[in-house]
This record gives sequence, C-alpha cells and structure tokens, in this order.
Amino acid sequence: MNHLLLYCRPGFEKECAAEVRELCEQQGIYGYCKLEENSGYALFVSHQPDGASLALETLRFHDLIFTRQWIACLPIVEGIDTEDRIGSLIGPVSGLPECGELWVEPADTTEGREMQRFCNSFGSAFSQVLRKKEILQRKAAHRMHIFALTGSSFYIGYAPLANSAPWPMGIMRLKFPNQAPSRSTLKLEEAWHWFIPDNQWHQYISSGKRAVDLGAAPGGWTWQLVNQNMFVTAIDNGPMAESLMETGQVKHLMEDAFTYQPHKAFDWMVCDIVDKPTRVIKLMTQWLVEGWCRETIFNLKLPMKQRYPEVKSCLEYLQNALSDAGIRYQIAAKHLYHDREEITVHVRLLDYQG
Ligand SMILES: C[S@@+](CC[C@H](N)C(=O)[O-])C[C@H]1O[C@@H](n2cnc3c(N)ncnc32)[C@H](O)[C@@H]1O
Repeated sequence: MNHLLLYCRPGFEKECAAEVRELCEQQGIYGYCKLEENSGYALFVSHQPDGASLALETLRFHDLIFTRQWIACLPIVEGIDTEDRIGSLIGPVSGLPECGELWVEPADTTEGREMQRFCNSFGSAFSQVLRKKEILQRKAAHRMHIFALTGSSFYIGYAPLANSAPWPMGIMRLKFPNQAPSRSTLKLEEAWHWFIPDNQWHQYISSGKRAVDLGAAPGGWTWQLVNQNMFVTAIDNGPMAESLMETGQVKHLMEDAFTYQPHKAFDWMVCDIVDKPTRVIKLMTQWLVEGWCRETIFNLKLPMKQRYPEVKSCLEYLQNALSDAGIRYQIAAKHLYHDREEITVHVRLLDYQG
C-alpha cells in the first residue's frame, strides 16, 4: 500500500505531515502529502507501491510527535451504497493483511464527533460479519481500521498492533480526578502513561521520590506527584491549592523558576511554565547538564508559525548540549491529547548517580 493516513489534532496537519515525510525520506521512502487544514488528518502518498507498509515496518510510532495514529490504507473509497455498506466494503477489506479486530473511527473534529455513534454501530455490525467470514481472525499482528469521513466515504487500512497507538482515534481517555486543583493535571498523567511503560512505573514513579514542579500553581501536576506519594517542592509566585498544602508533602517556594537552584538533586523535575520555547529549553538543559534531576517531563509552548522547525531546533539544542557534556540520555516528545498549543517532552538521564 502506498497511502499512509495520519490522525492528528485538528490544526496540526502541516506539522504531522512534515514530520512523517521527513522521517520517511530518511528511510528512502519518498512521496508527497495531501492535507486540509483543521481536518484532523493528513495523508502521505508514497511513490513506491508499498511505501506506506514499509513506513509502518521501518519507522517507530513512538518517535512521531504530531501523529496520534497511523494506518497504511487504500486510496479513498467514496460514494458507496449506504443501503449496503457492508456488502460494498467486504471486497476492499479482504485485501488487507490478516487482522484481529476492526476499529471504525471518525476524525477528532466537530463533524467527526457527530459520526461517533454511526462508527460504533457500523463497526460492531461489520466486525460480526467479518468474524463469521473469517476475514477477522482471533489472533493477528494487525488491526483493521476504517477511517470514516462521512457515511459513504472511507479510508480502509491497517496498523501493526506492536507499532501503533492502542487507543481508538489514537486518543488516551483519562478520567479527571475530582480532587485535583486544575484540569492540567491530566497532561502529566497522560505523559506518564505515554512515556513510561507500565512495568517501569514501580521504579520511576514511586513512593518517597523527590520532585520539583516549576510553575506549579494551582497544583494540577503537583497533585499527580503527591498522589504517587512523592515529596514535592512547588515553585511559583501564584498560590497553591490549600488541599495540597494540607497533605504535608508539598513545600511551596514563591520564587522565579529561572533563577531557583536546588541544594540537593531531585528524582523528578516537571515544568509547565508558559514562556518562549527557546527560554524553557535552556532552563531544562541547565537542569539536566547540572545533574539537578534524573528525569523530567516538561511542556514546550508552540509558536504561532514555524511550529515544527521550532520544536526540532529546541530538541536539537537540548540533545547537543547533553552529548557535548558526555551525558547519556533517553528522550521522547509527543503532542498529547491533553496538549493544545504545546508539546510534552520526557528526558531521562541514564547512568545517573544523583
Ligand atoms: C499553566 S500554569 C501551570 C499549571 C500547573 N501545571 C497545574 O497543573 O496546575 C503556569 C504557571 O507557571 C507560573 N510561572 C510563569 N513564569 C514563572 C516563573 N518564571 N517562575 C515560576 N513560575 C512561573 C505561573 O504563575 C503559572 O502558575
């Protein structure tokens, strides 16, 4: 297949397409992108007949910042008979690699959300038919996807289970914890789920760890740290929620995060300060190069224009500084579902002694 469909937050189609095109080119997969602003998806069309399947095999989904989900797919199937969708789509889906399940998904747009009920009911009816016909197998390495633009136009494709997002629409749905003082809390929770595999939580997100939260008020991120039984130093001139201060696990310092320096290293530094990305990345770099923390999750607010080049240059700045200092590290960045005009970055120092 040569069509690669990329799901993204509406408004970020350009960044999503530019990133995937660049990564594909690095693998010798050439092609062009088609996109419509605010549609919630972009399409990379490879010049090679198997370019999209090759991309799924050679790129790591986890490396993509702006893509929520990806599927290798057929060219758009349009104008199908709405009286017999199943009959019309059996032919196209039969040519896909063996799949174990089917997800029918809309774009994450207002019109898309109005199609959610249709997607659910059509998905469940079509799955039953495909199971009976043994087109859907009990166990298979791929998932079948139907991306519904309308009730009669679809992209039909597949994604490898081991190299794609495990959530419908590529969206990790989290329940807002009522005790948390701000909705931002979900950004840190989603970041942990995205960046830290479940089997590493006990080692890295555990009781008794020391954390610092730069730009902490009113305390949504601090709440997550406290909820994991960490001890938190919260840096912000603004007020922290009383309920958090009452836990006895939070020390609030009304200081400027850009001049604050710790006496003792922290296990975690998190930062949600709204400032220029170039300013924030310098601060993050300083913390890591000085060894003031072992691990960090921070947000980079995106500029209005040139968002992808700005992200690349910020991440390169950090990576070059760590390499120049001879520090081994692991880095990943993602435009999370709970992020808006920002991306979230995770860095862990390897060989860290504290
Ligand atoms: C988006 S809010 C943080 C929300 C927080 N993560 C939460 O979940 O509740 C950004 C915070 O950064 C703080 N801030 C901005 N510049 C700062 C600085 N130079 N030093 C410390 N805090 C700063 C602001 O006062 C604001 O409370």
